[in-house]
Amino acid sequence: ISLISVSAHAEGYPERTITMVVPFSAGGPTDTVARLVAESMSKDLGQQIVVENVGGAGGSLGAGRVAQAEADGYTVLLHHIGMATSATLYRKLAYDTLNAFEYVGLVTDVPMTIVARKDFEPTDLKGLVDYVKANKDTVTVANAGIGAASHLCGMMFMSAIQTPLVTVPYKGTGPAMTDLLGGQVDIMCDQTTNTTKQILGGTIKAYAVTSPARLPVLPDVPTTAEGGLADFQVGIWHGIYAPKGTPAEATERLSKALQVALKDPNVVARFAELGTVPSSDADATPAALKAKLESEIARWKPVIEAAGQYAD
Ligand code: MLT
Repeated sequence: ISLISVSAHAEGYPERTITMVVPFSAGGPTDTVARLVAESMSKDLGQQIVVENVGGAGGSLGAGRVAQAEADGYTVLLHHIGMATSATLYRKLAYDTLNAFEYVGLVTDVPMTIVARKDFEPTDLKGLVDYVKANKDTVTVANAGIGAASHLCGMMFMSAIQTPLVTVPYKGTGPAMTDLLGGQVDIMCDQTTNTTKQILGGTIKAYAVTSPARLPVLPDVPTTAEGGLADFQVGIWHGIYAPKGTPAEATERLSKALQVALKDPNVVARFAELGTVPSSDADATPAALKAKLESEIARWKPVIEAAGQYAD
């Protein structure tokens, strides 16, 4: 009788620590989502996922780092809608967005909030619009660089009110929030994953959420539609990518671990506190992320071209 030894667990990927690049500063919304998901995925994978923050150029510097990394399954990127907008905003990207990555899956779609330093004069969205129009040369808008979600949202706000404003770029909206709290910058459009705590704590002022309906976690914050800017709606979807050529064994295994993590009660509860919900099993797949990226590049291209904002 030949003895067949069956290993206690499937050999193979992953056999060592995985690096997850976050293309923005630590402490910001992208970093918050990444650390929550990475910690939970690590449990299912049996290997540690270590988050590395690589900020700059609205997220495209970190994306470029992963595009050039070894395609062995041990370097991944967690990025958001900026992956799609940067494809149009940057005419000299270090990578070809639709040919430089393999796909793992969608993670979550986060609403945005229009917020201001707590002593900013206007008390509602209509008042904010009137105020910034009357003071367009002095009001400052924080963002995380061209290509960031905060940049896209700010651009949409300026287009909606037909008024260009002075923008102040940071390497992430974590550091931008510090200046907003300190009153060094006036307004920002940022994800609930970074603003909910401050709004509920009264340390910043919230004028609107960019979601179709009010958020359970922020019941007193009106929607942009209630404030008269119905067309101004945007959700910041996030995805996990790997360098082109990463074996399907790795991306499929990571997608399975992502689906487990997105049903982890701690992740679900934390996302809810931060104003968002996890992507479904069907969306946390390579095919869903690929389709989302392709459709979003096509969707935002005309919007960006109409605004005429590019990074040179
Ligand atoms: C963004 O504005 O794209 C992100 O919120 C920046 C960040 O995650 O720090």
